[in-house]
Amino acid sequence: MAVIRIKSSSGSYEVHCANGILARASALVSRLRDATGIFIVSSPTIWKHCGRAASSAFRGLAHRQAILFDDAETEKRLAIVEELCRALIHLGADRRAVIVAVGGGVVGDVVGFAAASYLRGVRLVHIPTTLVAQIDSSIGGKTGVNLPEGKNLIGAFYPPQMVITDPDLLNTLPHREFRSGLYEVVKTGIIADVELFAFLERHMLSCLRRDPETLASVIVRCIRVKANVIGRDERESSLRQILNFGHTFGHALETFTGYRRFLHGEAVGWGMCAATLLALATGRLAARDAARILRSILSVGHLPALPKIPAAKLRALLAGDKKSRGGRIRWVLPRRIGSIVVGVEVPWPLVSRVVGELPGIVREAQNQTRVATARHPDARVRNRADYSAIQ
Ligand SMILES: NC(=O)c1ccc[n+]([C@@H]2O[C@H](COP(=O)([O-])OP(=O)(O)OC[C@H]3O[C@@H](n4cnc5c(N)ncnc54)[C@H](O)[C@@H]3O)[C@@H](O)[C@H]2O)c1
Ligand SMILES: [Zn+2]
Repeated sequence: MAVIRIKSSSGSYEVHCANGILARASALVSRLRDATGIFIVSSPTIWKHCGRAASSAFRGLAHRQAILFDDAETEKRLAIVEELCRALIHLGADRRAVIVAVGGGVVGDVVGFAAASYLRGVRLVHIPTTLVAQIDSSIGGKTGVNLPEGKNLIGAFYPPQMVITDPDLLNTLPHREFRSGLYEVVKTGIIADVELFAFLERHMLSCLRRDPETLASVIVRCIRVKANVIGRDERESSLRQILNFGHTFGHALETFTGYRRFLHGEAVGWGMCAATLLALATGRLAARDAARILRSILSVGHLPALPKIPAAKLRALLAGDKKSRGGRIRWVLPRRIGSIVVGVEVPWPLVSRVVGELPGIVREAQNQTRVATARHPDARVRNRADYSAIQ
C-alpha cells in the first residue's frame, strides 16, 4: 500500500492507495478520534456499482443509509448543498460527525463544500471512484459548486482528513470517462515526471486495459506529483499553475461547446496539443519532444472533432480564462518533457495560426500513432474495449 502525505495550511492528511483498500476503509476511518457518527454521501449511479462494497466496508460503523444525490454536472449547485445539509441535520449529524464522500469529482466537490459549511465545518473523508477524482480532485482541498454564470464560482479550500483511493473501483467506470482521466495522467507526466511519461509511452495499452498493477502504480505516481505541487503552492500563486497545462484552450473549448461535446479530459487533450504546438512555434520546445508529447496524448484514443470557433470568439474565451490578466492570455507551455513554464504571452496572430493548423497536425499524428500502436507488442493481447479505444 502507498501512503502519501499531503501538506496543507490547515493540517496535513494522508492518501492511502492500494487495490482492494476499500475493504479496510472502516479501520482507517476509525483512526479519526471521537467521531459521533459516520455519514456516507454518494450518487445513485455510483452506489449501484460501489454501494455494496462500501456498505460492507463500513458495516456497523457508518449510518445505515447512505445519502444519495444525482451527480450530473448540472446538479453541482448550491441548492444540493442545502439539501445535503438538511439531510445531515435530520440524521442527527453533529460537530463531531465525519462525512465520507464516495464518488467522482462532482460528488467530491459538492460534498466537500457541504462539509466545509455544515455547522461551520465537519470532518471529511474522500473515497474517489473516478480516475480524475483519484489523481486530481480528491487532493488539494478545492471544493465548490457551479452558478448558472459559470463553473466552480462558489467554493472553499477545505482539505479532507483522509483520502482512501482504491483503483479497483475504476473497473466499472464507463470507458470514455476512464480515458478522459487518462489525458490528465499524461498531463502529469508532461508537466513534472519524465519517468512517468516514458512509462506511459511503453504501457499505454496496459493502462487502457485497466491492468490493476499498472493502474495502481500510475495513480500513485500522479498523486505524488500533485502532492508535491500543492505542498509548495496550495493556493495557486504560481507553481500550482503548472497543473493547468492544456486547460487554457481546454476551458475555452468546453465553454464554447456548452460542456456537451467534450469530457473535461478530452478538452484538455486538445488543449495540451495546442499548447505543445505553441511552445514549438515560439522556439521553447524541441521538435523531438513536441512529437513525443503529441504521440503520447493521442495514444489515449480518439479526440472528438474540434469545432470551428470564430477567431474573435476564441480570443474572448481565452482571455476570460482565470489565468489571464487584464484580458492578456497567459499560457502554460512545455519547455521539455517534465518541465513547464507558466504565464507566457504569445502574439495573437501566432495563436490564431496554430489553432488553425491544429486539426490537420493532430489528424496526421493520430494516424501515425494508430500505426505505431498496432505494431506495439501489447497490441496482440488487447481486448475489444481497448481496440475501440485506440481507433
Ligand atoms: N476539486 C478539484 O480540484 C477538481 C479537479 C478536477 C475536476 N474537478 C471537478 O470534478 C468534476 C468531474 O469529475 P469526474 O471527472 O470525476 O466525473 P464525475 O464526477 O462527473 O463522474 C462521471 C460519471 O461517472 C459516474 N461514476 C463515477 N464513479 C463511477 C464508478 N466507479 N463506476 C461507474 N460510474 C461511475 C458518475 O456517476 C458520473 O456519471 C467536475 O465538476 C470538475 O469541475 C474538481
Ligand atoms: Zn483538469
